[in-house]
Amino acid sequence: MSAARTCARTPKTIAAESVLRRHAALDPSSPPPMLYRWFLRPLLFLLPAETAHHLAFGALRFATAIPGVTAVLRALFRPRDPALRVDALGLTFDAPVGLAAGFDKNAEGHDALLAIGFGFVEIGTVTAQAQPGNPKPRMFRLSADRGLINRLGFNNRGAEDAERRLAKRARARGIVGVNVGKTKIVTEDAAIADYEASTARLAPLADYVVVNVSSPNTPGLRDLQAVEKLRPLLAAVQRTIERTCADRRPALLVKIAPDLSDDDVDAVADLALELGLAGIVATNTTIRRDGLRTPDDVVKQIGAGGLSGAPLHDRSLAVLRRLRARVGDRLVLVSVGGIETAEQAWQRIRAGATLVQLYTGFIYGGPTLPSRIARDLLTLAKRDGFTRVSDAIGADARATPDAHPR
Ligand SMILES: Cc1cc2nc3c(=O)[nH]c(=O)nc-3n(C[C@H](O)[C@H](O)[C@H](O)COP(=O)(O)O)c2cc1C
Repeated sequence: MSAARTCARTPKTIAAESVLRRHAALDPSSPPPMLYRWFLRPLLFLLPAETAHHLAFGALRFATAIPGVTAVLRALFRPRDPALRVDALGLTFDAPVGLAAGFDKNAEGHDALLAIGFGFVEIGTVTAQAQPGNPKPRMFRLSADRGLINRLGFNNRGAEDAERRLAKRARARGIVGVNVGKTKIVTEDAAIADYEASTARLAPLADYVVVNVSSPNTPGLRDLQAVEKLRPLLAAVQRTIERTCADRRPALLVKIAPDLSDDDVDAVADLALELGLAGIVATNTTIRRDGLRTPDDVVKQIGAGGLSGAPLHDRSLAVLRRLRARVGDRLVLVSVGGIETAEQAWQRIRAGATLVQLYTGFIYGGPTLPSRIARDLLTLAKRDGFTRVSDAIGADARATPDAHPR
């Protein structure tokens, strides 16, 4: 039977099969719906990565500008099962799966992104001054690895523009965090004032604030992760939030790189506890390139930038475990890096993440990924005997002997 089938294969069917196999490799265990998998994604992937991003995001914003469309999307996709709800950072999240920073840099489409099923959206990175970012091309797909390399360099319209947009939004629509970073032309000496300026504008409109010191694409930024530099920076941002947010103070978190040594991860965790931060977002993209399927010469040709997606999965999970062992449940841990499936999100929650985020998985998995992950998390919680997804936070975590009890 199979021999007969093999004999019937023509060069055309063999070629078609090879295309199918190549595209199937783009998907982790639970593939996206046919429309995205076989039609939209192949078309988008014909375009340069940044163009495809603007086209797809633009189409979503265009569609949701039509009266009634957002309401329909919300009715279809917004998670509403109480078992998915998470109370954290003084907020109630509809679901623990959010969109990571970098997708909606200018706060242009957060309501549309919430409507398709994200439990929260982190806008930014926003810098105090508008800036164009690095020269193009600056975003590349590594399809064989389900990864991306980007060196966008915080291209954004600046804090004043984001402030204007956020001021227009109806808070009731869902949770929007604001991620702030350093303006490129600002020197290290003036970095604190720069973060203070963007925080002063945006914190009053944010549900939570993330200080980003971990992007590899702004020269010197990651040096701010050293505790002696990070302490005054975070303390200043904290004071700015206290000064500018009289009614409701948004929680403050810090976002770290996966390339920190384990000791440095511990040091940032201890600092976050010392300063009374609400949590840590871990992790940003990596500058490492090991273990990739994409040929070395292709990777070399792409050049500098942060690698995200599946290749980041293991290190991001390891950083989460390290953080949880260090801080227990005293900080909210937001885990991000290589999450593509509900099983992976569930593993992060069981390892101690209160919330998870994704970016690259969304590019490969398509617009229904957030709602599919939310739905499947309910099944996984039931399978493992938890009434609510949040009951499983840290279920697999173990404190290490050197963790500092406080
Ligand atoms: C194209 C692109 C742009 C990004 N821009 C930002 C950014 O501006 N600020 C930030 O904190 N993280 C940024 N990130 C990092 C993501 O928020 C996330 O931490 C990282 O990609 C790991 O998650 P993932 O593997 O699910 O993509 C960006 C990632 C990508 C792929």
